[in-house]
Amino acid sequence: MNTRRGIILAGGTGSRLHPVTRSVSKQLLPVYDKPMIYYPLSVLMLGGVREIAIITTPHDQDQFQRLLGDGSHLGVEISYLQQAEPKGLAQAYLLAEDFLAGGPSAMVLGDNIFFGHGLSQMLQEANNSTGGGTVFGYQVADPSRYGVVGYDKAGKVTSIVEKPSKPLSNLAVTGLYYLDETASEKAGRVTLSARGEYEITSLLEMYLNEGSLNVQRMGRGYAWLDTGTHESLLDAGNFVRTLEKRQGVQVGCPEEIAFIRGWISADELERTAEEYSKSHYGRYLKSLIV
Ligand code: DAU
Repeated sequence: MNTRRGIILAGGTGSRLHPVTRSVSKQLLPVYDKPMIYYPLSVLMLGGVREIAIITTPHDQDQFQRLLGDGSHLGVEISYLQQAEPKGLAQAYLLAEDFLAGGPSAMVLGDNIFFGHGLSQMLQEANNSTGGGTVFGYQVADPSRYGVVGYDKAGKVTSIVEKPSKPLSNLAVTGLYYLDETASEKAGRVTLSARGEYEITSLLEMYLNEGSLNVQRMGRGYAWLDTGTHESLLDAGNFVRTLEKRQGVQVGCPEEIAFIRGWISADELERTAEEYSKSHYGRYLKSLIV
């Protein structure tokens, strides 16, 4: 079986957050105590993915590299790809075609944050699935801002539409896509939408039409957080702060996941903990070593 490789899509202009994102990539902005990209990176790692390509703008790539390097300190292999222009989410599968090497993929948007009990198991199941695609449907109050699933009385998914003005349901498709090895070939057949993008929903529609799309419901016990506006970014930070303060555990800590999984040794974790020893994040890493 081909190992599933991961993609973090972290390009785009971040224009909705200007001027904050004039000189810093959106996905590197802090969400409370760590850069935003730690959260989606943790999601891929929780699902068991260890070979990961990060897609950035050409301009921002070196900053991501400075932060995450080759990933060896996290027990993963990280490589970097560039997207010259933000032409849409489906384009990621073309840019990553060589990296995916004809195998299945897990793609997460670099600004999506997930949290919830049982998340790890849900991700591992998607990771272990074979053939077709798995995406996650999440109930939102404002579906028009997302890709939206339409379904019939029996609960069978009948459509997926990007930012519909008249949404057929409140079920948004989150930015996490487990697709089989046909994703790049399918992405090559996606045509530009009216707003000039290769839409991920067009790609998902192909799976839907083939009868091979599994829309897994992410119930109300999960948090899927938005970071698209200044307000929601602050809310996400406060959410993480509240949980971490109350429980004394980190949300979205890739070093911890790597250590628990046995992907890095205590010595390796200690090195990072030392480097970050002046922050509470570093002290937390240190506390994991018993
Ligand atoms: O967050 C989930 C939603 O993400 C889905 O429900 C939608 O179906 C999907 O199209 C997407 O909608 P957004 O409106 O959030 O897409 P946005 O253009 O904001 O891009 C999402 C992230 O991906 C953002 O951090 C920037 C990055 N991006 C975006 C585009 C279009 C890229 O890196 N390259 C791109 O070409």
